[in-house]
Amino acid sequence: MVRAWHIDESKLDENKLELSENERELVNLEDLKEHTGVLYWKLNADTYNEDGTLDEIRKCRGYTYADEIEVSSKTLPNFDVMIKKFASEHLHTDEEIRFILAGKGYFDVRDANSDDWIRIEVVGGDLIILPAGIYHRLVLDKDRYIKAKRNDVKGSFLDRMENGSANMWGMGFSTELRIPFPFSPKISP
Ligand SMILES: [Fe+2]
Repeated sequence: MVRAWHIDESKLDENKLELSENERELVNLEDLKEHTGVLYWKLNADTYNEDGTLDEIRKCRGYTYADEIEVSSKTLPNFDVMIKKFASEHLHTDEEIRFILAGKGYFDVRDANSDDWIRIEVVGGDLIILPAGIYHRLVLDKDRYIKAKRNDVKGSFLDRMENGSANMWGMGFSTELRIPFPFSPKISP
């Protein structure tokens, strides 16, 4: 099961991505959905092609695009530049959909009310959908490797400026062809 917890930016450093159990203030999936709009499902990274679970979600949400990205120093051109970009706070004008095939990373998302960070740890089999308009970033773990399927290409990438606006989740970004949030496919979350 995916793990998510509140993080205090002032106490973070690159060597301390993994907080101890005592230091974590865990967030359950229901609260995560309520405070950020993030949706999550656990699929089987080895059998998702045959069991049809990813296809079911794609069909229900109207996704027509798919590609794969392998974030590693060996396969991704301009690796250092790109991981810096992923780790900078930004939003998109459309959903960000990631199905993790291998490796590990952390999606940090802003709580829509408090603007605090919530860190979501993702590994193989995790499918995560960040809603349009939510500020977020992707931080790699110490192994600096993650491989994922993407289903989104339409939305613009907007960096958060200093004194930037709050999350714009739910503020009228295009959702045509999408099943309205919340959405529950017939597979276990
Ligand atoms: Fe993003």
